[in-house]
Amino acid sequence: MRPVVFYYSETGNTEKVARAVCEATDGSMKRIETGAEDLVEGEPVFVGTPVHAFKPAKPVMRFIKENDWDGVKAAVFCTYSLYPGKTLRWMRERIERDGGEVLGELKVKGRHPVVPFLARGRPDERDLEKAASWARKVLKRV
Ligand SMILES: Cc1cc2nc3c(=O)[nH]c(=O)nc-3n(C[C@H](O)[C@H](O)[C@H](O)COP(=O)(O)O)c2cc1C
Repeated sequence: MRPVVFYYSETGNTEKVARAVCEATDGSMKRIETGAEDLVEGEPVFVGTPVHAFKPAKPVMRFIKENDWDGVKAAVFCTYSLYPGKTLRWMRERIERDGGEVLGELKVKGRHPVVPFLARGRPDERDLEKAASWARKVLKRV
């Protein structure tokens, strides 16, 4: 089983978490560009996003809306600086409404690109270790 870790990242925080998830699960990484990337049939999927205005980033919303989640086992994560709002709930509800199953959710602090004192230095080593152990647990639920 080789999960695919789909992620979007503008300043590298979500990418760091995606890499930790990927290494922990021996998965492959795929950056979300346009929203139309295909899911690999039969493989579990992780989807990671930065929080933008309390929701997933736009390319990630498009990616989730435009894919067929029927029968797909997924897990969702986000990085945020202060308050993630309804980001993870939005992802879970959309995926499940479309027939997918969400096996786990994780939120990780990520330094703010504009307000430097918000979540300074995050994600740090501990965050990445936590993400790795979360990812391994998720895979056991598949
Ligand atoms: C346009 C914009 C909107 C953001 N909105 C939120 C928000 O609503 N809540 C929050 O906690 N962080 C917010 N942030 C901070 C990011 O979610 C955080 O820095 C994240 O880790 C960035 O991930 P990235 O480096 O993968 O792009 C926002 C950042 C940007 C640039």
